[in-house]
Amino acid sequence: MDHIQFALSTGQSSKTMFEDIRFVHSALPGIGLSDVSIHMETGDLQFESPVFINAMTGGGGSETANLNGMLAKAAKETGLAMAVGSQMAALKDPSERASYEIVRKENPSGFIMGNLGSEASLQQAQEAIEMLEANALQIHLNVIQELTMPEGDRDFKGALERIGLIAESVEVPIIIKETGFGISKETAELLTATQISAIDVSGFGGTNFASIENERRQRKLSYFQDWGVPTAAAIVEAKSAFSKTILASGGIRNAQEMVKAFALGASAAGLAGSFLKTAYLKGEASLIEEIQLLLEDLRMMMTALGAKKLSDLEKCPLIISGELYHYLEVRGLD
Ligand code: FNR
Repeated sequence: MDHIQFALSTGQSSKTMFEDIRFVHSALPGIGLSDVSIHMETGDLQFESPVFINAMTGGGGSETANLNGMLAKAAKETGLAMAVGSQMAALKDPSERASYEIVRKENPSGFIMGNLGSEASLQQAQEAIEMLEANALQIHLNVIQELTMPEGDRDFKGALERIGLIAESVEVPIIIKETGFGISKETAELLTATQISAIDVSGFGGTNFASIENERRQRKLSYFQDWGVPTAAAIVEAKSAFSKTILASGGIRNAQEMVKAFALGASAAGLAGSFLKTAYLKGEASLIEEIQLLLEDLRMMMTALGAKKLSDLEKCPLIISGELYHYLEVRGLD
């Protein structure tokens, strides 16, 4: 609940660098709204919709169970895939399971992703998948959050090896995700040695776990608050090294940012903080309406850009300026 409260109060941090991207208008797009399909086309992850509810919550009793129930109902109603928050709490204390299992109960045939940190063993990964009959498992990387937490981990050895073992052993696709600090080309390159199916870049510019954890400690590690790869740059970084599915998250709030993420090569976009805010403050009906409007806006922009399918967006010319232009040039990414 601390995380939820601070995520709501610290708000969105700063730049995702999507603001440095502009589409070139096409006055003759040659298609109509009814030609547009927003189905995810490729890869091991077959989401019905290219938008998903990213990992947030579970454990911690009835309040998180209510929130997960609300998110799950909205996911079912709108056809979105959904991830739960880290299941480690339920693996350590079975009385916590109900706050996760409610997600499968509310949405028996939906696409549900389990979630664990990279400290998880193969057995824990298998248990987490079974707990939800999960369609995929997210494994999160959260070095900056752990370092900022007084009680957090200080040793990050062996993560890649554990990920490799889990990915080659379990039957569902594995997604490696960050938690708001992004994935670099070098990290993505390391992950190509494993059999994971997707990388969710979860970049800088949205929920900031250094700010959140700093709220919970006396001596602030403020240097971590402006740390990380902004989401737009992280998509390009990850895409340059990893040829399978790239998912975009981190500071995505509207369809315009989604369309930009897809134009950079992401296959789907995950929202955590912004859906949390709506669900927590306004309730389930508002969240469902917000998602429906997001999908409508996405189709409207695709129509204007002449994109019948999501991958057509990658062919749209983009004007990249400002910090993102500089960033990509310095990194030799174009
Ligand atoms: C998160 N996030 C997260 N991620 C994860 O892999 N496991 C987790 O347990 C959690 N827990 C969590 C709690 C809360 C309250 C929030 C807001 C977020 C991180 C989340 O999935 C996402 O990567 C980041 O929040 C960045 O996306 P947004 O929030 O900017 O859309």
